[in-house]
Amino acid sequence: MIPSRLFPRLVLTALVLLAGLAGASCSKSAAPDATAPAAKAKIVIGLSLDTLKEERWQHDRDIFKAEAEKLGAEVVILSANSDDTQQVRDVETLISKGVNVLVIVPHNGSAMDRAVKDANDAKIPVISYDRLILNANIDYYLSFDNVKVGEAQGTYVKDHLPADHVAQVVRIYGAPTDNNAKLFKQGQDNILNPLIAAGKIKVVHEDWATDWKPDVAKNIMNAAITKAGHAIDIVVASNDGTAGGAIQALSEEKIDGKVLVTGQDAELAACQRIMNGTQAMTIYKPLKTLATQAAQIAVAIGQGHPPAIADTLDNGMKKVPSIFVPVVAVDKGNMLATVVADGFHTAADLK
Ligand code: BGC
Repeated sequence: MIPSRLFPRLVLTALVLLAGLAGASCSKSAAPDATAPAAKAKIVIGLSLDTLKEERWQHDRDIFKAEAEKLGAEVVILSANSDDTQQVRDVETLISKGVNVLVIVPHNGSAMDRAVKDANDAKIPVISYDRLILNANIDYYLSFDNVKVGEAQGTYVKDHLPADHVAQVVRIYGAPTDNNAKLFKQGQDNILNPLIAAGKIKVVHEDWATDWKPDVAKNIMNAAITKAGHAIDIVVASNDGTAGGAIQALSEEKIDGKVLVTGQDAELAACQRIMNGTQAMTIYKPLKTLATQAAQIAVAIGQGHPPAIADTLDNGMKKVPSIFVPVVAVDKGNMLATVVADGFHTAADLK
């Protein structure tokens, strides 16, 4: 049976073919070439993004689109500006446009089950991209190993503790609506909790940054400074955006560069801060690998060849076939050998 979502394109293709045949019948060489391959309907992929505010999502979008188009597909992109209702509406719009495959970066991993249900009803496969959609019948999940991201941030801290006193630490977590933010914290906890228990570090302040907003992170940092004064050694910021907010607060107190600040994403501004000494490290996540694979899988599914993937992750409803791309911790010492060598930023950009 032909899935209903293919109807508009099949009808269009049939019309194009009929028009071609009608035109041909007016000419002398009327016989259609029986050996010519049948025209294939173009695969259309709907990409629903939470936000495009952080630099990384612009890279994800551009790489995904370029790869899908290279493979002959079309990509329709909508961004929800961190609004759950808007994102559910975006997915419904994409479904009504008759896309063949949906790729979703959820703002809220728990709020997208309704949108996925609509996609299931329309028999449109769904790929959850970077962030997991919980308790929903999704087909694939592609991400990085997010617990390892948190562990790499924690390990960096562990390797750079002050030698002569108990480290005073501020922890800034990501958006509580983002499943990844919880996994980053889990990874950080794996490394930091034993150090807390051993009395090597003391968490002087901690909080979650709504929607990963840098200005919320700045407020968290201000609250930490109000509480602990300038006696802060380390800020475990969960990504580069929140690191930027925290560093802004530190800079207003003229203690930026004196406090070790972590991050994630290898955003250009963060890599520049690492080179000039106000941020200590970031996590490089090769977006090219993730976005390219996601586009390839989306096109394959659209063409009716869903790939078999052995690795799975339970999203609360099912074991979802999953791919996890490895990540690298980056500081000043290996910036050139990682981020620059991979072509993510140029050495000139980092000056
Ligand atoms: C992503 C991070 C990103 C954050 C904020 C997370 O889900 O994994 O790379 O910094 O969202 O957009």
